[in-house]
Order: sequence, then C-alpha cells, then structure tokens
Amino acid sequence: MVLRQALVTAVLLTTSTSIVAQVDFEQHDWFYEFPLASTNVLPTVPPPSSFTWDSIFLPPGISLASAKRSPFHVYHPDFHRVIGEDPRLALVLETEGYYSAHEAPVYHEPTQSFFFCSNAGAPLGFSGAENSNRVFKISLDEVESSLSNKEGQVYLDETTGDWKAGNATLVEISGEDGTEGRLVNVNGDTRPADQIVFLAQGRGEEFPPTMTLVNPYPPYNSTVILNNYFGRQFNSLNDVALHRGTGDLFFTDPDYGNSQDFRPTPDLPLQVYRWNQTSGLVSLVADEMVRPNGIVFSPDETKAYVADTGLVGKDRDPRRPATIYEYNVDEQGNWSDRRTFAFINTGVPDGLRCDESGNVWIAGTGDGVTVFNPQGVLLGKIFVGSGSANFQWAGPGRMVILAETKVYVAKLLANGDPVWK
Ligand SMILES: *[C@@H]1O[C@H](CO)[C@@H](O)[C@H](O)[C@H]1NC(C)=O
Ligand SMILES: *[C@@H]1O[C@H](CO)[C@@H](O)[C@H](O)[C@H]1NC(C)=O
Ligand SMILES: *[C@@H]1O[C@H](CO)[C@@H](O)[C@H](O)[C@H]1NC(C)=O
Ligand SMILES: *[C@@H]1O[C@H](CO)[C@@H](O)[C@H](O)[C@H]1NC(C)=O
Repeated sequence: MVLRQALVTAVLLTTSTSIVAQVDFEQHDWFYEFPLASTNVLPTVPPPSSFTWDSIFLPPGISLASAKRSPFHVYHPDFHRVIGEDPRLALVLETEGYYSAHEAPVYHEPTQSFFFCSNAGAPLGFSGAENSNRVFKISLDEVESSLSNKEGQVYLDETTGDWKAGNATLVEISGEDGTEGRLVNVNGDTRPADQIVFLAQGRGEEFPPTMTLVNPYPPYNSTVILNNYFGRQFNSLNDVALHRGTGDLFFTDPDYGNSQDFRPTPDLPLQVYRWNQTSGLVSLVADEMVRPNGIVFSPDETKAYVADTGLVGKDRDPRRPATIYEYNVDEQGNWSDRRTFAFINTGVPDGLRCDESGNVWIAGTGDGVTVFNPQGVLLGKIFVGSGSANFQWAGPGRMVILAETKVYVAKLLANGDPVWK
C-alpha cells in the first residue's frame, strides 16, 4: 500500500493559523489505548446542562488534538486484529466554511473515483428549500500521489491534530444538466451494472424524493427509477442497501427534509421499505423506528442493521434513540426478530457498513467511525474529533471518511464487504 510504504518526514513549517510539527508519519504511534476502566469513576461528572447532543468524551487530561493525533482508539484488544498493526489516517481535502463532504459516498473502482455530496439543510451546506446540494467526485489516484509524496507533504498540524496530505481537487458532477430535483441530498450505493444509485431527499412540494441511477462516467447523466409510493411522495429518502440474494433494494425514509425546512410535512410514516425492481412492488419492511437512517446487510445477508437517528429532529431530545437495531433476514429478504444492537455515546449513528468479517462500522455525527463486533461489543473508533455522517470502503484496506468540511482517507487491514461486486 502506497501510504504505508511512504517514508514521509514532515517539514517544519509555521503558518499564521497552525503549528506544523516535525513528526515522522511512519514512526508515529497511531493507536490510543482508551483507558475505559479508569474512566468509570471521574473526579467530576458534569450535569446534563453542560452537554450538547454531540459532546465528545475523552478521559481527563486528554486534549482533542492529542486524541486526533493517534486516531485509532482501541476500546477492546480485538480492534488491533481488525485494523491491523499499521493503520494510517490522513486529511486529504478541506473546504473551510463549506460542508462539502456529507453523504452518498460511492467508490467507483474502474475510474478510481470517489463520489459524495454536500450537506443539504445545514447552514454550511448552502442548500435547502431554494437550491439543491451538490454532488462531487475526487480522484483517488490524486489522493494516493499526495500520500506517497516524499517531499514532506504529509505533515502533522499540531493545532488540530490532523495529519494533512495535499488537498484533493473537487470536481462537481451535479449542475444545470437536468439533475435538479433528482440529486437533492443523496445517499449512494453502487450497483453491479457499473452504475450509481443515489437517493435524493427532494425539495419543496415540487421535487419529490427520488431514487436515481447515475452514470459514473461523464456526462454523469441520470435517470429517475423511483419517485413515489402508490402515488404519494416519500418524505426524504435517505439510505439504500442492495440485498444481493433477491436483488431488492432496501431503503429508509425519515423526515430530515421537513425538520430542516426544505420539505413539507410528511405524508407517510418514517419507515423502511424494499423494492422489487422486477415486479415494481414497493413494500413495508419495518416501521418501529423514530427516524431510520443508515441501512446495511451483514456479508452473509443473514442480518440487517438500521441506524435510528431519532434523537435529531426539529429538536434534539436525548430521550430518543441514537441506536442501531438488528434484524434476522431470511433468504427471501424478509426481516424478523428486531433487537437492539448498539447505542453510540455521542451524536447519532448515520452511515453503516460491514467489513468482510461482519463487524459493523458506524459513521457517527459525534466523533468519527465507531466499530462494533457482530455481538455488539464496542471494539474501537477511528477518531476524527468531529461529526462524520458517512464513509465507505474504497477498495481493499482503504476507506474514505466524510466529515463535512473534511475528507479523510484511512488505510487498514480490514476489507469492506464488497457490495459493489
Ligand atoms: C481545498 O480545495 C477546495 C476545493 O477543491 C478549496 O475550496 C479549499 O479552499 C482548499 N483548501 C485548502 C486548505 O487549500
Ligand atoms: C446516460 O446516457 C447514455 C447515452 O444516452 C445512456 O445509454 C445511459 O442509459 C444513460 N444513463 C443514465 C443513468 O441515465
Ligand atoms: C420479485 O418479483 C418477481 C416478478 O414478479 C418475482 O418473480 C420474484 O420472486 C420477486 N422477488 C421476491 C424476493 O419476492
Ligand atoms: C418472504 O418474502 C417473500 C417475498 O417478498 C414472500 O413471498 C413470502 O411470503 C415471505 N415469507 C414469509 C415467511 O413471510
């Protein structure tokens, strides 16, 4: 792996905004063994009023920057076996003041492109009721070349704790080409036929949410493949997973368009559906969640996981779930036996992915990517120190993490479940 082989010694630079340190990218200790047991009794335990819904917990005396400097936080020894001896994390794109990197992460292997969209609804997404968010791609070849640059391009920003590597070029693929209304806040998944499926949340009353096929090659033309449930608009389509056994697409429909003021009051419950593309039937899968969001199948397709982001709506009430639920799935794709799988300790769980071994990786709007084993035991985190709505594997041992103003690339031992194959 290029990143691992690179022997990059950071140069000593000082800019007006950050202190850049001379730290060896290769020799650095990338792990932080989180001292769980020593945090069971804290000197002071602050009251609820001192927390926000996405407050980050670190042991006393550990600064945010130092926790980011060694971003692989180990909560259980098995995490070492999952991420391997020699992981790396680097910040490869930064758009200060703009939430360019929010959702819809899609890896397109043939062109080494990685697609994602900007935030729809949040003020720094600069989109909402009047205009759509944007869809971008970056070149992973460009990213790799900045990571393997031996002339001191990967350096530690001491102020933020980020390891910085170049600044990938953002290429916009949305625009005035008829994508308006179809690619409004999307979430993606590639399909076997070298296509991308994006879900769009819609905008106002005029543009209903859609499921849209997008050509991963220029001119990135798109075709809407689903835009209603028996004539009714969906609320704000959010995330989709392909069930390979049946070919059905399973998807979630929460109400973020409405809670972020760019969609009308929902006309349908906030629930999970499946779509048989052959018969055209869209049917209900699960309705027992507050705001279903991320959705994924285990690699053997015997389990399904759904993130409930109930905590975040028009208000933020911590009495609602920030919880991942697990279901059994049979060969026909039917779900049964819902149970709680995991609860995340900051923010809400958003994008979900499994690795080949069935561990469940969860992008959290609190502090980064959190990893649980199939039994729901917390193994560790890739700590980016801020919210990350989604992420995706980008080939073996490589992962791209979207953190609103920042895009990180991680190199790990674990391989993603190759749903795109
Ligand atoms: C990185 O590139 C983006 C657009 O590609 C630009 O908006 C941003 O200012 C750049 N950031 C830095 C730190 O150069
Ligand atoms: C894009 O355009 C080509 C050429 O017209 C067409 O064959 C293809 O189906 C289109 N793809 C999508 C996703 O609309
Ligand atoms: C999907 O629809 C087709 C055509 O009606 C049918 O043959 C197939 O069994 C359906 N798939 C499932 C999983 O029900
Ligand atoms: C499972 O789903 C299939 C296809 O949707 C359906 O035909 C079948 O009756 C379901 N089986 C059970 C046991 O509910």
